[in-house]
Amino acid sequence: MSPLRPLDQSSKLKDVLYEIRGEALVEADRLEAEGHAILKLNTGNPAIFGFEAPHQIVRDMIAAVPNAHGYSDSRGVLSARARGGLAALLDEGDEVLIPAPDYPLWTAMTSLGGGTPVHYICDESREWQPDLEDIRSKITPRTKAIVVINPNNPTGAVYSREVLEGIADIAREHSLLVLADEIYDRILFDDAVHIPMATVAPDLLVLTFNGLSKTYRVAGYRSGWLAITGPKTHAAGFLHGINLLASTRLCPNVPAQFAVQAALSGVQSIDALIAPTGRLHEQRDAAWKGLEAIPGVSCVMPRGALYAFPRFDPEVYEIPTTRSSCAISWWPSTCCSCRGRASTGRPPTTCASSRSPRPG
Ligand SMILES: Cc1ncc(COP(=O)(O)O)c(C=O)c1O
Repeated sequence: MSPLRPLDQSSKLKDVLYEIRGEALVEADRLEAEGHAILKLNTGNPAIFGFEAPHQIVRDMIAAVPNAHGYSDSRGVLSARARGGLAALLDEGDEVLIPAPDYPLWTAMTSLGGGTPVHYICDESREWQPDLEDIRSKITPRTKAIVVINPNNPTGAVYSREVLEGIADIAREHSLLVLADEIYDRILFDDAVHIPMATVAPDLLVLTFNGLSKTYRVAGYRSGWLAITGPKTHAAGFLHGINLLASTRLCPNVPAQFAVQAALSGVQSIDALIAPTGRLHEQRDAAWKGLEAIPGVSCVMPRGALYAFPRFDPEVYEIPTTRSSCAISWWPSTCCSCRGRASTGRPPTTCASSRSPRPG
């Protein structure tokens, strides 16, 4: 038999970084195998910290299982229509504006879809609000879309109306598609208000992404959806592409779709968790206070989502200038990943970490 031809990964994967499942996790697994107690805060995964799924959601899904063994419509069952896909939009070299610091999924999906991720700065000195001037400066004739993650992972920022309107103006001027990731839209603290991007830009094509993973604590169900709003005639080809992609995977996970209606129409149990006496609120406070109390560490108070994004003073901590990972001691320990200049456009003095769980 002739020697087997070497099989390498496709060149599209070469630029795909997915640090939340990357080097930091490998290091954490290694330490764990050595017997260290590691709290894995690399993903926003409520279940592993004892957050229970709301009973109505579980009940509806279980009740649906006996009748959910066939394919559904590729857009989802009627009560939970869903669609998706950047590949439908991007040709080689098309650029997508993505917030930095980034949630790496969007950067990865852009690269996988054949496009080029271009990061715009969110400004730590302005509570991590997107920097409109920076966005403008990064637009080229190849810019096709802008991603807005609000409330934001990893900074915990909740964007102001002024900033959202500014982004909409830029999208209007340059005919950009707006991709609004609003998975944390109901995880808000203090007086923070979430303003859906689609309401600020009803005259633009906006794709809003949401799902059950965070607000309803059932990340494992893999149940999410995409709402398409605004004018559509100019985008018939793209929308046809999205439908085509949805059809190629035949349909989404059927039993989990039956959880959607129960979740959206039932009691919003997240409200008790984000209230001042609620667990998420208390943990946000505890994480922020704990970080601020560490010498050489400061952190903008998160106003939403499940994350804090602390700054490490490079005078106090030696921080490598290349992409790398680090672990900081938290309660009892925290694993977090540092994103370098490549993703933030700034010196790597900030670190992403999820909040501390309760002791015990
Ligand atoms: C901003 C953001 N978007 C999307 C996701 C993924 O959500 P899903 O579980 O619906 O795939 C996450 C998960 O952490 C996230 O933080």
